[in-house]
Amino acid sequence: MCGIIGFTGHKPAQDILLDGLQRLEYRGYDSAGIAFFKDNGNHISIRKTAGKVNDLRAICDDENNSVTGIGHTRWATHGGVTNANAHPHKFGDVTLLHNGIIENYHELIKKYDLKGKLKSDTDTEVAAAVISLNYSGDPKAAIRAAVKELKGSFAFCIMFKGHPGEVYAVRNVSPLVAAHTDGEGSFIASDLTAFIEFSNSYFVVPEYHILTLKDEGITLEDLEGKTVEPEYLTVDWDVSTAQKDGYPHYMIKEIHEQPRALADTINPRVKDLLPNFEDDNIPDSLFEGVHDITVIACGTAMYAGNVGRTLIQNKFGIPVTVAIASEFRYERPTIDENTLVIVVSQSGETIDTLEALRLAKKYTQRTLAIVNVKGSTIARESGHVLYTHAGPEIAVASTKAYSVQVAAMYLVGCKLGLVTGKASESEIREFISGLKNVPSMIEEVLKLEEKISVQANRMVNAEDAFFIGRGLDYTLSMEGALKLKEISYIHAEAYAAGELKHGTISLITEGTPVIAIATQQSVYSKVVSNIREVKARGAYVILISKDKEITDNTVCDVHVSIPEVIDELSVFESVVVLQILAYYTSVGKGNDPDQPRNLAKSVTVE
Ligand code: F6R
Repeated sequence: MCGIIGFTGHKPAQDILLDGLQRLEYRGYDSAGIAFFKDNGNHISIRKTAGKVNDLRAICDDENNSVTGIGHTRWATHGGVTNANAHPHKFGDVTLLHNGIIENYHELIKKYDLKGKLKSDTDTEVAAAVISLNYSGDPKAAIRAAVKELKGSFAFCIMFKGHPGEVYAVRNVSPLVAAHTDGEGSFIASDLTAFIEFSNSYFVVPEYHILTLKDEGITLEDLEGKTVEPEYLTVDWDVSTAQKDGYPHYMIKEIHEQPRALADTINPRVKDLLPNFEDDNIPDSLFEGVHDITVIACGTAMYAGNVGRTLIQNKFGIPVTVAIASEFRYERPTIDENTLVIVVSQSGETIDTLEALRLAKKYTQRTLAIVNVKGSTIARESGHVLYTHAGPEIAVASTKAYSVQVAAMYLVGCKLGLVTGKASESEIREFISGLKNVPSMIEEVLKLEEKISVQANRMVNAEDAFFIGRGLDYTLSMEGALKLKEISYIHAEAYAAGELKHGTISLITEGTPVIAIATQQSVYSKVVSNIREVKARGAYVILISKDKEITDNTVCDVHVSIPEVIDELSVFESVVVLQILAYYTSVGKGNDPDQPRNLAKSVTVE
C-alpha cells in the first residue's frame, strides 16, 4: 500500500528515485510523484501525476541534477486517483509523502483551521500541514510535535525548505528501511528492493524514531532526542532477485523460482531427515503440550494455512482452525495457553494479520510467525519466527511465497507430530525425504508450461470458472480460483467436489471451464464421479491428476499429468499448474499480471 523512497548523496537523485519507485510499484500503482531540492535548497520542486511510474518518468526533466529527493507510488485510500491527490504534498515549508492512513485527519482539519486551505482530498496533506504549522526552523522539533497528534499508521519522508541535502523520516506501523553507502549516500524506502542495487545491508527504522538522512550518513533518534544505534541486517539477494531477469513478467519469473525457494526453505530445517529449528531459535518447548492450533492469515497466505491445516489435522490428529485475520480480530477468541497460534504472511506487514497477532498474544505466549520478509513487523512482534526463503516477491499475485508457506507449515506439522508423540521418527523421515524431493518434481511440472498455456486460450473468453477437488485438492482449489480471479478478472469459485450438486451445479452450462484436481487416492473415484456430473452438463474439464494418461473423454477434455508423489505432496505440483494457467489467461486477456487492477501487495490498511 504505497511505496516510498528517499535519497540524499553524491549522485543525481532522480534516476535513483524513479528506478526505486519502479521496484516498489507492486505496493500501489495509481499515481506517482517525486520532489527534489532546487536553487540551493530555497525551493522544492514537485513532479507528480495520476498513472504509473513510467508516466511520471515521462514528465521528469532529463537534466535534473539534484542530489536529494523523495518519491512515492500510490494505492489510493483517501481521495480519488487524481493529479492533485498524488504525493508529494506541500504545505508551507514542508513537502512530504506518506504510506498509511491518518485516522484523525477530520479533527486535525478543525483544530488547525485547515478548511479551504488544502489543495487535495488526502489525509496526507493534513499531516503536511500539521508538521508545517509546528515548524519554526527545527525540522525534528516539528516532527516530534506533529507525530504526537497523529493517529493511525504512517511512514513519512519529509523535506524542509531551507534544509538542502536533508531528508527526514518517521513511522508508525507502516514499514521503512534505511541504509547508507560511502559510494552513493543515504537511502530510505518502504522496502529493501528499492535500493538493493546499492546495498544488501540495511536496518528497519524503529517506530516513533526520527531519522535524518544526509550525504555523509544517517542518524536515528528517539522522540526524546536520544541517539539510537541502528541494528543492521543483511540479505543474500543481489539485484537480479529484484529484476525480471529476462522473463516478461515478475509473476512467471517467480513461478519458475519455486524449486530454488523451496530448497532454500526446507533444506536448512532438516537434519537427519527430521525437522530441526535450532538455527531459527525455536525450541521444542513451543510445541510441547499443544492441544490445538489456530492459523491466522489473509488471502493466499490463509489458503496456504488451510493446506497446512488439512495435513496437520489428518496426519497428526491435532485440531487446527484457520482464521481470516480481519475476522479473527472481531470474534470471541477461543484460544488459550495450550494453543499454538501460527500467523502466516509473506510481507510480514499485513495490518489485519499483525493486529490479530497482537490480540492472540493476550491469550497465549505460543506464537509463531511464518514470514518471508526479514525484520518485518510481524516477524519482530511474534514470539518466534520461521522465515521462508522465497526472496523478494514482486508480482502482486503470490506464487512462490505460497509454496514456501505450505512447506513451512508441513515442517511445523512434522515437528508437532514428533514433539507431541503423534508420529514416529520413521514416519516423519519417510515424509521428509519426499518433501526434500519436491523441488525436482516441480522442475518436471514447469516443463508442462507450454501445454498449460494453450489451455489458457480456452479460458480467456470465459465469464466464470470453477475449481473443484476433495481434501487437500479442495483447499488448493481455493488458491487456484483466487489466482485466476485476481489477475484475469474472470469470476472463479472453488468448491468441494461433493458439494456441487447441492446448488452450484446449476451454474454449469455448455463450455463452462471446470478445473478439477484429483490427486488424493482415498477420494479419487468420488472426485471422478463428480467430474462426470459436470462433464455430462457440458463443462469443459481440465483435469490435473497423477494418472499417466486419461483417454476417456467422458471424464475430461484435457488432462494434465503431474509426477507421482505421495498424496500430501501433490499440492506443490498442482499449484504450479494453476499458477501457470492463471498467468497465461491474464496475459491472453491483455492484462498486466504483475499489477492487476485495484490491487497492491502488502496490505497495510484494515
Ligand atoms: C494474492 C495475495 C494476497 C496476499 C494477502 C496476504 O495473490 O498475494 O492474497 O496473500 O494480501 O499478504 P501477506 O502474505 O503479505 O500477509
